[in-house]
Amino acid sequence: MFEPLKNHPLVSRIIQFSHTLDDRMEFHEKSHEVMRSMGELEFLSTVFETNLKDEGFLKRSWSNYEIPFLYVFENNHFYLKFHIFPPVKSGDTQKAANIIHHHNNYILSSYTSFGPGYHTCHFGKEIIEHEDGTAEMTLTKDFFHAKGHINVVESWEPHIVFNMASTTTTLVLWSPDKKLVTDGLRNHPLVKPFKRMILLVIHALNLHKSVGVAPKDVKQYYVQDGKVLSIKEADYFGTYKEQVGDEVTMNYVQAICHFVQQMGYKNDAFISEMLSRDDLPKAWRNWLPFLISDEEIPTLYGKEEINIPKKEIRIEDLRKAFAS
Ligand SMILES: [Fe+2]
Repeated sequence: MFEPLKNHPLVSRIIQFSHTLDDRMEFHEKSHEVMRSMGELEFLSTVFETNLKDEGFLKRSWSNYEIPFLYVFENNHFYLKFHIFPPVKSGDTQKAANIIHHHNNYILSSYTSFGPGYHTCHFGKEIIEHEDGTAEMTLTKDFFHAKGHINVVESWEPHIVFNMASTTTTLVLWSPDKKLVTDGLRNHPLVKPFKRMILLVIHALNLHKSVGVAPKDVKQYYVQDGKVLSIKEADYFGTYKEQVGDEVTMNYVQAICHFVQQMGYKNDAFISEMLSRDDLPKAWRNWLPFLISDEEIPTLYGKEEINIPKKEIRIEDLRKAFAS
């Protein structure tokens, strides 16, 4: 839960929409105009400083599994964040940045607020899984998610994102596709310690859809030799989740500071005050001074290879696999 901006006029409009609109697609559509205003420097500056004032955010240790982000707001029914996507050094935008995945019962609205954007594809929700690990699905959308565009990814809708030519930031709004009485339980202090046990019971009774949790073995998909193949989400992400620690944190803080600097963020008094703190983590101590000196923070580059046998998915291979 991240609620310090709950009284900000833009955030409170979205909270109000969420409160009054039970149809979650309608809630997303109503929120889009507000999301555009949130992409402006003034709001971003407030968001950046609010995150720095939050102990949990300031001192968090990042994992390579995550996308560098800034919190905007989170409650039991939706959350809003800035996602900062690092480009690849090769500039190879024909290569996928991840594999085909969906976000379970969550609807995602994504507004490209900064940078060129990225190519993306969506797929049909009907997936036929075969014993041999191959899968059948259809390609439904193939387009560039450019700066200024808002894209909606429906719940259970598989999609894939390609590499960016330079740092790209999206403002993302996530919410479950239905308001459920159990939504508040996710973050409930009495439930948290028993989460694993409760999930075991939910999966054993096959109740995951009715209580809005992810199925036990979520699959992701990639293409190879003209075929669509599945991989367990846990197997795909395993190696990235293990990559944590000071180096990852140094890089992720670089990506965040690079983005706010490129947006034109400037508040020397606030940054000086942050720098005067004895408990300021190393990564912030390293990158915040650039926001005062105006020396350019270099772009952080992301991973060139993805965790599948052939290490890459090229857009032409993907199109070929889905053309047959
Ligand atoms: Fe996604």
